[in-house]
Amino acid sequence: MSQPLESLLDNAIQAIEQSDDLMSLEAVRVAFLGKKGEVTARLKGLGQISAAERPVVGQEINRIKLRIQKELEQRKSFISERLIADKLISDTVDVTLPGRHSQSGGLHPVTLTMNRIQKMFSKLGFDIVEGPEVEDEFHNFEALNIPVHHPARAMHDTFYFDDDRLLRTHTSPVQIRVLENQQPPVRIIAPGRVYRCDSDLTHTPMFHQVEGLMIDEQVSFSGLKGTLEHFLKLFFERDDLKTRFRPSYFPFTEPSMEADISCVMCSGSGCRVCGYTGWIEILGCGMVHPEVFRHTGVDSDIYTGYAFGLGVERMAMLRYGVNDLRLFFENDLRFLRQFS
Ligand code: PHE
Repeated sequence: MSQPLESLLDNAIQAIEQSDDLMSLEAVRVAFLGKKGEVTARLKGLGQISAAERPVVGQEINRIKLRIQKELEQRKSFISERLIADKLISDTVDVTLPGRHSQSGGLHPVTLTMNRIQKMFSKLGFDIVEGPEVEDEFHNFEALNIPVHHPARAMHDTFYFDDDRLLRTHTSPVQIRVLENQQPPVRIIAPGRVYRCDSDLTHTPMFHQVEGLMIDEQVSFSGLKGTLEHFLKLFFERDDLKTRFRPSYFPFTEPSMEADISCVMCSGSGCRVCGYTGWIEILGCGMVHPEVFRHTGVDSDIYTGYAFGLGVERMAMLRYGVNDLRLFFENDLRFLRQFS
């Protein structure tokens, strides 16, 4: 009996040594030690052996089983190590290759401009507030003294929803929301997106405004002019920047004005950007209309105020010398990278 057992072991060892990969090694294990394997069969056959012989033979089979297990394990770790070694040789890393950089992004020029405006007004003591982009008629029009049949409504090219809601056409409704919630003194700016159903070379359906509102006792027209002049000089980094105020009309300010600055491209001598006038229209402003105070419950016997609104894209175009509004919205990386 021990002779065939010895050759069984020899066969197993030979088969193990001939296995070159983990899969064939596993096949060898199954063939000898698996449920139907040869060694397993011998163990099962022990019952047929006489009781006297059984312990000796049993011991012998177990010895062979353990030996085969050990051989299998050794071969397995040998094959695994060789696999890793092969891999290391074939997967060489060329350390002289240039590294892969992760590209860092930058802020959009409109965002940069908005941040700059906010920072400047913060230094002047203005708080920054935001309002909803989906507004209602009351805040966007009614309370700003633009009743239903007022011709100013037609000028606003409003996007309407089915109910009384709309996309705000300017940031002025934030004036109303602030005054509804806060008693004067009020000193805020409100930056954000606004929408108008208008699209051509110089208009996009969405653009950005910054609203300003200052309400207190004795807030004056000259305060408005001084603040804006100071801001515009700082923004364009020009001490010699000239400002001029022209009479204009907004339903929610009285008197109303538009402010021009001397052209930042030609310093006033006349060029294509300023239409050879030397001046560039930059913002709308005025003293808060009594109707706005009435709608928001502010006592106009005690308080006066000024408001202004400026277009952020326009400020960005002038500051960075961008001559086409559409560049801000095309997201061409060659354009955007110039600002990072
Ligand atoms: N809301 C006005 C517009 O969009 C700008 C403005 C704001 C004018 C505040 C006067 C005062 O054109």
